[in-house]
Amino acid sequence: MIYDKFANGYDCALAPFEKRFLEKWRRETLSHLPENAEILEIGAGTGANFPFYPPSKHAVASEISRKMLEKAREKLNGETNFVNFIQNNAETLPFAENSFDAAFATLVFCSLEKPGNAFLELKRIVRPSGKIVLLEHVRPPGISGYLFDFLNIFTSALIADCFNRETAKLAQDAGLKILNVKKKAFGIVNLIVCENV
Ligand SMILES: C[S@@+](CC[C@H](N)C(=O)[O-])C[C@H]1O[C@@H](n2cnc3c(N)ncnc32)[C@H](O)[C@@H]1O
Repeated sequence: MIYDKFANGYDCALAPFEKRFLEKWRRETLSHLPENAEILEIGAGTGANFPFYPPSKHAVASEISRKMLEKAREKLNGETNFVNFIQNNAETLPFAENSFDAAFATLVFCSLEKPGNAFLELKRIVRPSGKIVLLEHVRPPGISGYLFDFLNIFTSALIADCFNRETAKLAQDAGLKILNVKKKAFGIVNLIVCENV
């Protein structure tokens, strides 16, 4: 898992972007989640979203990389009631149908091998009319989309990061209802709010 190799440097590498815009976008993304509910994060990474979790009945942070998950645990400083951790693949979630009121991911669908499978899993484990909220970098509209197609040749080979995903379309193809797509950074980043139907 390539993110085992990135885990030590991940927070440092993102720090300049966190301060300038990511923290603001994370807060806005998680503000779409219901309070006092059962919520699931997939690809939780080093726990960068923890400061913005809403008060919840039960929160689960899932992540495939053991090393990223270790970093996330360290962030909580032994505060174990806040969230349960689980190491697993987002494409095969170990939860029963309708287990969660909502689920979310930030900067994850670009890393998944088969994002369509993860959407089908989210559709299965989030209850009907529950929300699925995503902050993702995507293939931008217009001519710059072709630039991202080109960049994708390198990013997908070198860092397993797909630069030309059309994530909202994939969500829709999996049967989720798209409530809103808010474009950020000229459409390079999307805040996507879906409802399970
Ligand atoms: C760019 S990082 C984003 C981490 C965090 N969500 C954030 O916003 O900083 C992508 C994360 O997705 C995780 N990931 C990649 N493939 C995954 C999979 N199949 N299942 C679960 N997590 C996965 C990686 O291990 C990594 O932690």
